[in-house]
Amino acid sequence: MRKNIVAGNWKMNKTLQEGIDLAKELKDVLAADKPNCEVLVCTPFIHLASVATILEESTVGVGAENCADKSSGAYTGEVSAAMVASTGAKYVILGHSERRAYYGETTGILKEKVKLALANGLTPIFCIGEVLTEREAGKQNEVVYTQLSESLFDLSVEDFSKIVLAYEPVWAIGTGKTATPGQAQEMHAYIRSVIAGKYGKEAAGNTSILYGGSCNPSNAKELFGNPDVDGGLIGGAALKVTDFKGVIDGFK
Ligand code: PGA
Repeated sequence: MRKNIVAGNWKMNKTLQEGIDLAKELKDVLAADKPNCEVLVCTPFIHLASVATILEESTVGVGAENCADKSSGAYTGEVSAAMVASTGAKYVILGHSERRAYYGETTGILKEKVKLALANGLTPIFCIGEVLTEREAGKQNEVVYTQLSESLFDLSVEDFSKIVLAYEPVWAIGTGKTATPGQAQEMHAYIRSVIAGKYGKEAAGNTSILYGGSCNPSNAKELFGNPDVDGGLIGGAALKVTDFKGVIDGFK
C-alpha cells in the first residue's frame, strides 16, 4: 500500500548551524508527539551529513534537493547520487520546477538523474507540474503527461515502484496561492490514471503522490483528505518547526 508522506524542502535557506538547530528541534517535537505519516526533510548538500547524523535514530528521514546527472568525474561543483547516499540520506528531490526553470533541467537530464538515484539506493521524489499559462490554456494534463513519460516511463515496473511523485503546480509554489482541494484531487487522480495506463492499476495504487505549493497548517488537512493526495512537499512552512508540525498534523 502507498504511504502518506510529509517532506520538507528547505531550498537555499539556513546556514549549517541553523539547519542543525532546526533538525534537532524537529526530532524532539516529533519524538514527543508521534506523526501519523512518514516525515522527511530535504536539505542543502552541505547540511546532509550533519542532519542525517542528528536524525539517525529518529523517525525523520533525510534527503537531498538535487543530484548530478553524471556518476563521477570532472564536473566541478556537482554532487553525485553516490555522494548523497554516503551521507546517510535516503531521498532526493528531482525535477523541482526551480531546477527546471532556473538551471535548464530537461526531461532527458532528469531521466539520467532518476536512474543514478535509483542505482544508488535513493528514493527520488520526482516533481511535476504546470506553469500558470499552461493551466490557463487547459494544458496541465498534457504537460504533466510529458514530464512523466519523458523522464520515468522507460523504468521497469519494479524501479517505478520506488518513485514518490510530487504534483506541484508552479503557480502555487511560494505564492500563497494554493491549488483548491478539488484541483489537487483532479490532477492527482489524472496522474494515477496515467500510471495505471503505463504500469497497471496495482502500481498506480501503490504510488505515493504528494501535493506541493503553499501547503501550510491551515490547508494541509483539507488537501490531505483527498483520496489521491498522499501528503505534501513543503517549502516555506518547513522552515519553522511549529509550521511544519502543523502540516504533519494534517494527518491527525
Ligand atoms: P512552498 O514550496 O511550500 O514554499 O510553496 C513548495 C516546493 O517548492 O516544494
